[in-house]
Amino acid sequence: MKISVVLTPPEIARLPEADLSHVTAVVFDVLRATSTMTTAFEQGVTAIYPAKDIEEALYFHKKYPHALLGGERHGEKIDGFDLGNSPLEYRNLPGREIISTTTNGTIALRAVAHSPVVIAGALLNIRAIADYLAVNLPSHLLLVCAGTGNEFAIEDGLAAGALLDALPPFPMDDAGKMVLSLWKSNAENPWSVLANSQNGSRLIERNRQNEVEWCSQMNICTTFGLLDGEALRPCLAS
Ligand code: MLT
Repeated sequence: MKISVVLTPPEIARLPEADLSHVTAVVFDVLRATSTMTTAFEQGVTAIYPAKDIEEALYFHKKYPHALLGGERHGEKIDGFDLGNSPLEYRNLPGREIISTTTNGTIALRAVAHSPVVIAGALLNIRAIADYLAVNLPSHLLLVCAGTGNEFAIEDGLAAGALLDALPPFPMDDAGKMVLSLWKSNAENPWSVLANSQNGSRLIERNRQNEVEWCSQMNICTTFGLLDGEALRPCLAS
């Protein structure tokens, strides 16, 4: 297996044209999209439709009118939507389906949707994803750090490094070596990286510290979202 890591949104923008036919892609948007999705699946949500933009979310809603509309713009709930993008809002929706559009996370998921396997990753479910990869070894593992706006987000790199640390050693690109070393220097205290990150400090300023704390927990979830057509669906590693 070879491993590569995509660190920034401009690189993600090129992925829809890339040949990903042998790739398993794991997308990280730790604050907060993929942590929210992981939480939702762990608590019984049955499908999440990642939409590129609000227009597409509304189109999905016509197709799947039973689904709730969720997501954010500028970190806040979109007018007329049922839910924002806080993981804490998604802890009691068993059996529900959700359409989600977020600034970076759902764009990154859609950018790799033509890969045969697409996983939504977070610190919350690193172990579950590593266990899945151990028995479903791809020839090329692509870790996608969704970022924030147009920039790299350190918490996404941290989670990518945590996943690499949970796997046996494989050849990797320099971005992989960098995120692995980021994780190794901070494995004892992921909270401190999240709290001091650009996204984390912005959320804390907005009285959302409990969301940052939630997203910095390691391996409290045994489920991850696996893309199946238009929807992510919950998958258990074993
Ligand atoms: C995103 O997709 O850009 C994020 O998850 C933003 C957020 O909800 O804080």
